[in-house]
Amino acid sequence: GKPLVYVTRNDMPHGGVDLLKKGCDVKFWDHPSPVTRAELLKGVVGANGIYCSLTEKIDKELLDAAGPGLKVVATISVGIDHIDVAECKKRNIRIGYTPDVLTDATAELTLALLLSTSRRLPEAQHEARTGGWVSWAPTWMTGPGLAGATVGVVGFGRIGQAVARRVKAFGTSKILYYNRSERPEAKETGAIKVEFNDLITKSDFVICCAALVPETKEIFNKAAFEKMKPTAIFVNTSRGGTVDQDALIEALQNNTIRAAGLDVTTPEPLPLDSPLFKLKNCVVLPHIGSAAIEARNAMSELVARNIIAALDGAEMPAEIN
Ligand code: GLV
Ligand code: GLV
Repeated sequence: GKPLVYVTRNDMPHGGVDLLKKGCDVKFWDHPSPVTRAELLKGVVGANGIYCSLTEKIDKELLDAAGPGLKVVATISVGIDHIDVAECKKRNIRIGYTPDVLTDATAELTLALLLSTSRRLPEAQHEARTGGWVSWAPTWMTGPGLAGATVGVVGFGRIGQAVARRVKAFGTSKILYYNRSERPEAKETGAIKVEFNDLITKSDFVICCAALVPETKEIFNKAAFEKMKPTAIFVNTSRGGTVDQDALIEALQNNTIRAAGLDVTTPEPLPLDSPLFKLKNCVVLPHIGSAAIEARNAMSELVARNIIAALDGAEMPAEIN
């Protein structure tokens, strides 16, 4: 019969799902609320492919539950920190992800968040709506501009580079980057490779675009925030796990740095009683980096093409090697 693919949500963009349905039996978690772990473990039994998102942990227990017929796990994300890659390799289970198609969308959101944070847009709109807008005032709602600033990008992959191209258009004076390897693409923006400590010390804006791996786990800790300029703006659109969040909260409360813009937190969703929501100098978004309509459609189609190729034993368009 046809291969069986389990899809962990019933609201995946339909282009990809329609593609899958052509050659596969597709089974969904068919509720608007996210699948519980217990239901997920039941749902994947007998699946040959799993179409998942970053909210499902793909670990040994889950692979065991799926059984020996599982050939491919494809995630609708570029990040793969929710997948136990070594365990998949051991079992010859191939892994698909969605690079490239979300780069522009995520870079756009990064710039939006950076400007919202530095120019205090959520706070300003709140003032306008609640009577705080008494008159034009020369120093009211001011924040640092990007023109002439030094911007540091931590993690200079596709997204980090796309962010650098965009900030350059704002007339920044210097772009620094930190990355394990030298990136020849940096020539395009004139970005300069520096050590992490150098970057955080010198940058007016510090932007995290680094994948979450053991080397980047909580790289933004208390010591890092203390080394930043007291006027620094910190933006994170990668993973909450790159930040020691308690240290960030303290840094924002004490004005160790000026402000932070976060599209990613620990945990997600961020509980409503988190101190981050009480801080005027923090903008929190609900992990919407790739949420451009075009990007999400392309991501879903790429997931489907990854699964179909893997089930055919063919080359996948975007495979983790
Ligand atoms: C989103 O965070 C992604 O990894 O695609
Ligand atoms: C991956 O992390 C990317 O930058 O595309």
